[in-house]
Amino acid sequence: MQHETQVRVISELLRQLEVDRNIDAGRQLRVPASAYTCQDLAAEEWQAFFRSRPQVIGLSGDLPGPGSFVTVDDFGVNVLATRAEDGKFRAFVNACRHRGVQVAQEPHGDATRFQCPFHHWTYSNRGELLGLPRTKDFGDIDRACHSLIPLPAEEFAGLLWVHPKADATLDVQAELGELGPELQSWGMDKLELGGRKMIDKALNWKLANDTFGETYHFKRLHPETLGRLLIGDATSHEVFGRHHRFAFPFRTIGEMRDKPESEWRIGRAVSVFYYLFPNVQMNVGPRHVTLVRIYPHPEGPGRSVSRISHYFRPTPADFVADPDRQVLDANNVYDTTLRKGRVQLSPAASMEVFDSTVEQEDYVMGESIQAVAESGSMPEFIFGRNEAPLHHFHNTFRRELGLPPLEVVREGRSTTAR
Ligand SMILES: [Fe+2]
Repeated sequence: MQHETQVRVISELLRQLEVDRNIDAGRQLRVPASAYTCQDLAAEEWQAFFRSRPQVIGLSGDLPGPGSFVTVDDFGVNVLATRAEDGKFRAFVNACRHRGVQVAQEPHGDATRFQCPFHHWTYSNRGELLGLPRTKDFGDIDRACHSLIPLPAEEFAGLLWVHPKADATLDVQAELGELGPELQSWGMDKLELGGRKMIDKALNWKLANDTFGETYHFKRLHPETLGRLLIGDATSHEVFGRHHRFAFPFRTIGEMRDKPESEWRIGRAVSVFYYLFPNVQMNVGPRHVTLVRIYPHPEGPGRSVSRISHYFRPTPADFVADPDRQVLDANNVYDTTLRKGRVQLSPAASMEVFDSTVEQEDYVMGESIQAVAESGSMPEFIFGRNEAPLHHFHNTFRRELGLPPLEVVREGRSTTAR
């Protein structure tokens, strides 16, 4: 991130803390409960956002070296993604050209060849059909025409992008627009995978997304956990087309006041999230990225799957404690007395903080909302003036589907009167 941008974000957050006022979106919006429950809407979202748009499937660290692969089955097409000896990232439909059986069964691993378990047709990690048994019986086949079906794939800024349609064109830089150079500046391609977590819960995929859309709840929902590390009720929000950056202060932000702006570093002061339309939330720092990919569940709008993956530099295995700092681990990460000195978060601690907060606190709220939305007893909810990222996220997905923007709340109108 350009230093000028770092200073702008930090200054804005310090200003909000100074005057004790959060961001102001200028209005409140009403969101219909049906946004989280409507079957027809869910079907439209699935087609428009997941079957027809570029998808982020991971970071470069998911394919750490030649011969590594991952399989993905989250957006309606089985994907096999590989990194071959040439270092290039490729993606294919994970299906044998004979009868369609998935040639790679494991979620991730190392393999330069993939053999279909059914009849042992074998493919290279570049997709070429290398061989098949008993052609004298099977009959002639042009191997060059029976490679694994390639999918448009591009590695950009350390993000692995795949288009679910084989005949589509993928232009990641056009997709990201002005956000592209900023994402590139973080060096996310240099990070190594530290851990993965899957959360499958009874909340709409957009409710899971909403977790990452306001700082209003930090002090209320997370007083004993994240609330000890972050200051709530302060938000920096900048929009990049369909995407946005959402940032909020660590408790250490006050240190910046004692330093000249030239020494301000965003990683010391602020937690930065990027929302990549439609379903990616990414917490990015100088030494880590936590990627959250959120998917609707085939069962219906009342359930979603969040795939969280954590990446680090150095990698957890190479983590060396700084002797001049207090290392915080998963069991003492919330001990504020330790935080009076110079601290260092172990990879285990940062994974624990993120995963447990989301699963045991945020998504529990989401499940509660989902149950009420499905009961039909409350037709709409309100997004406050201080919940600007939620305004952007919801109005963006509505615009993409050709729906009118969320209704602005007028003063004096009861939400129960209709
Ligand atoms: Fe939260």
